[in-house]
Amino acid sequence: MKAGELIRGHFGGDLTVDAAEAHDIKLELDRRSQELIESIVLATFPDHGIYGEEGMRGDPNAADQWIIDPIDGTVNFFYGIPHFAISIAHRRHGVITTGVILDPMRRELWAASRGGLVTLNERPIRVSNRKNLSDAIVSVGVSKTEAAIEKGLPVLGEMMRSARKTRMLGSAALDMAYVATGRLDAYIESQISLWDIAAGMLMVEMAGGVVELKPHPNISDKFSIVASSGFISFTSPAID
Ligand code: IPD
Ligand code: CA
Ligand code: CA
Repeated sequence: MKAGELIRGHFGGDLTVDAAEAHDIKLELDRRSQELIESIVLATFPDHGIYGEEGMRGDPNAADQWIIDPIDGTVNFFYGIPHFAISIAHRRHGVITTGVILDPMRRELWAASRGGLVTLNERPIRVSNRKNLSDAIVSVGVSKTEAAIEKGLPVLGEMMRSARKTRMLGSAALDMAYVATGRLDAYIESQISLWDIAAGMLMVEMAGGVVELKPHPNISDKFSIVASSGFISFTSPAID
């Protein structure tokens, strides 16, 4: 929640850009948000590892690790679009045990624990029960690399033709949380990193949905993903 306050407090204000590429922006705030989350985690669990988009800390082989995306949807944030999130997952011996996703602008907090409930602001949630693709709303992410575009565009076209509506919202973590909540029927992306989806995977599964991952043959912790309610079948994008 503290990281959420940090980010919300800077929304619409002056921002320091650490690095700007053609299709991506890294903000000083991405780093500051991760440092804040790290300091809170490591103060309580000093021997745990941190696996974050903005860097790794602690023992990379620690049994307990925290997978952090300190701002998922940085480009939305930078352009004043209030749709971004913080995603944090805990894994023990490689198994995700807990996941939280916070939308600091709408003050929506999703939480999931393995074998337990999935909640949105403490109320239990479930995936949608729509059965037909023609009734479905599907979010398709296509990130910046040539490979992602090449593999992602056919799926985007297929969804635009077959689903009720297709969206590209700019935050994979919120896409996953929305699938768990039944707002979206599916989220599909051809190249996504573990920190984008770690918390959301547990959330979707514990909310009754299905997550299909294809690991990248050469890049570790990079996947193609279909996260869905499980009631409708979707083509999963190729990864190589
Ligand atoms: C990005 C967002 C976006 C997805 C990209 C991610 P970032 O994360 O989740 O929706 O399409 O693949 O990299 O860079 O804003 O943390
Ligand atoms: Ca991300
Ligand atoms: Ca990020």
